[in-house]
Amino acid sequence: MNPDNLTDQGPMLRRRFSAEQLESYLAAGQKSIRGWLHLTDSHLIAGIGQFQTTSGFDGSLGEIGVLHGKSFILLYLLSHASESTFAIDVFEQQELNLDRSGHGTSKEKFLSNLRECIGDDRHVRVFDCSSVAVSPEDLLDAVGPVRFFSIDGGHTDELTANDLTLADRCLCEHGVILVDDYFNRNWPGVSNGVHRFFETRAPRLAPFAIGANKVFFCRPDFAEEYRAGLRRNIRPTYAEIFKRSVFFGFPVDIYRPPVDPPAAP
Ligand SMILES: C[S@@+](CC[C@H](N)C(=O)[O-])C[C@H]1O[C@@H](n2cnc3c(N)ncnc32)[C@H](O)[C@@H]1O
Repeated sequence: MNPDNLTDQGPMLRRRFSAEQLESYLAAGQKSIRGWLHLTDSHLIAGIGQFQTTSGFDGSLGEIGVLHGKSFILLYLLSHASESTFAIDVFEQQELNLDRSGHGTSKEKFLSNLRECIGDDRHVRVFDCSSVAVSPEDLLDAVGPVRFFSIDGGHTDELTANDLTLADRCLCEHGVILVDDYFNRNWPGVSNGVHRFFETRAPRLAPFAIGANKVFFCRPDFAEEYRAGLRRNIRPTYAEIFKRSVFFGFPVDIYRPPVDPPAAP
């Protein structure tokens, strides 16, 4: 498969949105939305989504902590026509945002960004509450097992461990969980929470890639497949492996922006 070809979709799974919409969002659309998403990480997410599509992996997609939808819209663009998505955020109930991570969101702003960017907000199940109020049964009943789960909500130890537990319990065997801010010195609660989760729940999760500000996990049996799949599907103009290392006992590829990024169009 041509690694530059994000339109090369498998015969069984059809995406809900066109390849042109995805390209346009990656190139320009995401810049118009308030939030935090490094260009390298958006291309890692797109590369993993492409690998899932061509591998015939389905499920639902979604995020805890959507703010105005910057990274959620990318997940939505990667959904297959038959799949559901979910968005969990406290939105206007900012008294529930215990560490004020990314405060200042609104449900209407989130939904209007979906409509403006991709003309569709219909296939999203919105939970406007704290993630601690969402049980695995709630999420599984609403959208089914999850194939791409982004964690970027509350950044305390407790909330991170809670969110990872929820994600682990709802994840498909072939699913991916990404955790934002693990290595961000401003948010030590995230790494504390991930370690708490790994210590107390003996999870069946393995990291396989580290991006600019995200760590990607999957089931250990799929880790080698995802590492190889991402290497094949990443666009070298936006992300390159600069190091291989070992993290939580598993081999990981560490990506960074290329030294000479493409010139602005
Ligand atoms: C760092 S921002 C998310 C950025 C976003 N992912 C993006 O693409 O720009 C954190 C978000 O988490 C939300 N949040 C904070 N605590 C939460 C909780 N306990 N449950 C759900 N959402 C929470 C905040 O309201 C905020 O929208």
